Amino acid sequence: MQSAMLAIHRLDHLRTTVAAWRDAGESVAFVPTMGALHEGHLTLVRAARERAGRVVVSIFVNPTQFGPNEDLDAYPRTLQADSELLAAEGVNALWAPDAGAMYPEGFATSIDVSGVSADFCGASRPGHFAGVATVVCKLFNQVQPDCALFGEKDWQQLAVIRRMARDLDLIRPRVDSIIGVPTVREDDGLALSSRNRYLDETARRQAAALPAAMRTAIAGIENGQPVAQALGTLETTLLTQGFSRVDYAALADADTLERIDAPGARPARLLVAAHIANTRLIDNMAVEPQS
Ligand code: PAF
Repeated sequence: MQSAMLAIHRLDHLRTTVAAWRDAGESVAFVPTMGALHEGHLTLVRAARERAGRVVVSIFVNPTQFGPNEDLDAYPRTLQADSELLAAEGVNALWAPDAGAMYPEGFATSIDVSGVSADFCGASRPGHFAGVATVVCKLFNQVQPDCALFGEKDWQQLAVIRRMARDLDLIRPRVDSIIGVPTVREDDGLALSSRNRYLDETARRQAAALPAAMRTAIAGIENGQPVAQALGTLETTLLTQGFSRVDYAALADADTLERIDAPGARPARLLVAAHIANTRLIDNMAVEPQS
């Protein structure tokens, strides 16, 4: 019989729990989250269950990855509902530390992953990826999982975490055990995100213009349309269909995240961040390599 999910709030309890599993020869998969769980997170959990005997999910709204004028206070906190969803998915442990324990008085360390962090969300959200890399490194050290799973929706975040794991020679998880899971989308194509719940009915309907405009741009690029022209049309479409600002719309190398002005032999990604009704949405999609 599947045992009940443990809700763990103290690091010593987490460590003894994971150590006991390891002593019993079991492997551990880890899904870090900030809660406000949706089907995208549950897809990560199901993928985690296929990879390891034990699954740990963390819920921690990490203050250091929010800028001063961002939505830290408004970010949805739904621990009870999240906990029920995770228990129903057969998660073994929910790791929910409090901010005081994660960042005690005098906390002074920050992991700055240059290069992949610099552009896109790194440029429009200064300090964001240092906050992400630092908390993810802490979470990895706390849980010490065999593998960790992240949504591809945050493509740049995934690239930053892989770079960090490679650069710091992380052992648990090793860089090749950091798994990207494809984005889960609504029927109209909008990528699932905890921030979608900020959208009212009108904005939610208009938000579907984002994936639609991205698909049009990709079809154009793959059929030889100049990238600058396809991106210009994409931006105009968003601004005429309810979006108020486009932070970036760019084609980039899928691994290095360097901007490219034409698809080449290497995998590429179309990356977009745009604002609608005071909500910032991000999305990315693959662009087929061209020989
Ligand atoms: O993707 C998220 O939810 C967060 O950025 C993460 C990885 C849990 C770090 O706080």
